[in-house]
Parts: sequence; C-alpha cells; structure tokens
Amino acid sequence: MIPFLDLKKLNKPYQDNFKSYFSRFLDSGWFVLGEEVENFENEYAAYCGTTHCIGTANGLDALRIIFEGYKILGKIKAGDHVLVASNTYIATILAIKQAGLIPILVEASLETFNFDLEDLKRKITSQTKVILPTHLYGLLADMDRVSDFAKANQLLIVSDCAQSHGARDKHGNRSGSLAHAAAHSFYPTKNLGALGDGGAVTTSDEQLAKIISQYRNYGFRKRYVAQYAGVNSRLDELQAGFLRIKLKDLDALNQKRKAIAMRYFSEIDNEHIILSKYNEKEDHVFHLFVVRCKHRDLLQEYLSKRKITTIIHYPVPPHKQEALSELNGLSFPVCEQIHDEVLSISTDPNLTQAEVSTIINALKEFTC
Ligand SMILES: Cc1ncc(COP(=O)(O)O)c(C=O)c1O
Repeated sequence: MIPFLDLKKLNKPYQDNFKSYFSRFLDSGWFVLGEEVENFENEYAAYCGTTHCIGTANGLDALRIIFEGYKILGKIKAGDHVLVASNTYIATILAIKQAGLIPILVEASLETFNFDLEDLKRKITSQTKVILPTHLYGLLADMDRVSDFAKANQLLIVSDCAQSHGARDKHGNRSGSLAHAAAHSFYPTKNLGALGDGGAVTTSDEQLAKIISQYRNYGFRKRYVAQYAGVNSRLDELQAGFLRIKLKDLDALNQKRKAIAMRYFSEIDNEHIILSKYNEKEDHVFHLFVVRCKHRDLLQEYLSKRKITTIIHYPVPPHKQEALSELNGLSFPVCEQIHDEVLSISTDPNLTQAEVSTIINALKEFTC
C-alpha cells in the first residue's frame, strides 16, 4: 500500500539528532519554557520574516490566543464578527467561537479552495472586525486583495497558516508574515511537524506578542503574578528542540512536495478528474494535493484497490457539523460541492518516482 504520509520514514533521517537532543534535554533538567523554546521562537520568526514568534501548545490555541490578545488590547470585543471561508477546517471556527467571537462564513471558490472574494466583500458589515484567511492545502489566499479590503474597512487580518509553512507570496514574503498575526500548527503531519502537538503565533506587533507570551502562561507578568486571566498553552521544550532540527529542512521538503505536484499537474489527464488551478507566481507548499471528482467515493475506493491511500479533506463542512448547530441552517453550495468532490492525493516528500508514477497511472486509468 502507498501510504498517504509515512511519518516513520519522514522522521527517520533525524533519528540520531533527535536522540542526542533528547539526552541533552534530559540532562538539562529544564522541561518547560526554556532555552529551546526561545531559540525556536527566534529561528521561526526569522524564517517567517516577523519580529516575534510565540510557541503555543497547538494550532487551535494559537488562533484563539491571538483573539484573546486583541481583546486585551481593546482592538476587538466579544460578539465581533470574523469573516472566514466556509470550507476551512473546523478548528478555525472553534477558535473564533472559543474567543467569544462570531464566525461569519464566506462562500468558497472552486478554483482556490479559499474564500470567494466577491462574497467576502458582500459580507463586510459594521460588526466585522477581522478577516481570517486559511491558507488551505498550502495555497496562499490572495493576500494583496485581502489586505486592500482590510485596509479600506479598518479590519484586522488574522491568518491560519496551519497548512502553509514556508509558502511565499509573489513578493517573496512568507505566509506567517502576511497578516497582523498568524497561527501555525506543528501537528506531526504538517509540513513542519513535531513529534506531538505544537503551535505558534507569528506577528510583528510587539504589544500583541508581549500579551500573547504572557497569556499562554496563565497571563503571568512574572512568576506567579498574573496580569491577565490566561491559559496554559505552552510549546513543550522537547517539541521545540525537535522542531529546530526539522526547520532546517523545511524548504527542501517543500520543494520535494512541489516537484511531486508538478508531475501530477503535467501528467494526470482524465476528464473525470479536475486538478486545481495553480498560479506559477504564487508559492504553494502542497501540504495537500487536492483533486475534484463527481464520483469521488468511487475514485477513492478504486485507488484503495490499487493500493493507493487517499484522504478526504474534509467530508463535512463546518456549517453541517452537529457541533456547530447555530450554523446548520446556512447554505453554501460551492463549499458543499467541494466537500462532496475533493480527494487528497499524497505529496509525501519521500514518495519514490515509481510510486508517483503508480499514482499518476492509476488516476489516468480511472473510469466511471
Ligand atoms: C487549517 C487548520 N487550522 C487549524 C488547525 C489546528 O491545529 P492543531 O491541530 O495543532 O490544533 C489545523 C490542524 O489540524 C488546520 O489544518
């Protein structure tokens, strides 16, 4: 079976480094918020092109804590509206809700799998305070236009970069630097993945960064003295060390994902399978390579019989989730079509050329 992402193989080259780091970590006797977290934060901020990075326990918390920080700064308040793509991952919506804000879903675009910018414009009201682009599947949202809307309407941009580590826009800027604040997840399957949970906020807003670095640690100004009613959401010292080792290879691994995607684009030719549009100028880090097919379930079953693993990202849109009952009455036909038709094909950087060929041939030969 060709796996979707072989995490054992992905982490194997780092095994010796991980083990020697683990020995140092154990010997250090310092396990939470120490030198490794600080070093990772500095290195990841430099990589993203922001002045600050603050490690958190996961990507969901990173987003939620950004909102809490803006609430403390008085830039937003409970009940404010956040514009978000209707086809984002559920964690994006949960973070908005957990911060006491209202998610306003925007219809999706079949071409970019991001929000439909015309619908985004229509949805802006006096209650809108934030635009939240998710760079879904690793493809950047059109941040030039999003920034124009945000500026014209005095809105904050908070981005969800969980799937877009390392992506650069046409000006060469990394995804983590394209918003007022950006949230990252280092869940093991992400392009930069830890060996457990992890997350971070990147921003060049010094005031926000200071609040977030306190907020993630009970809101402490100094030990045991709380300025804010914060949370416990710290990036582990252990995970920070692993992430520092892997960060050095992120660009090279993204290039491998891209090379696989380029083969898919140039070699898959099947009237039943629609490939997404890809603008050469924009960087796409192919966290996922997503195709559309009217007979998606048949296609997935067929590929499984050919020993090819695929995953659906995602089968149920947020507004149809039982957990988000207040959104259940809404209708987003394009978003729903996306959920009915998408199938993710592996961009595991360790796929061999022969495995890529097997996947391509299977996709070429699919009939229904
Ligand atoms: C788009 C998106 N947003 C948010 C998250 C949440 O990240 P985490 O699982 O680290 O909380 C994820 C990760 O699964 C994601 O893919």
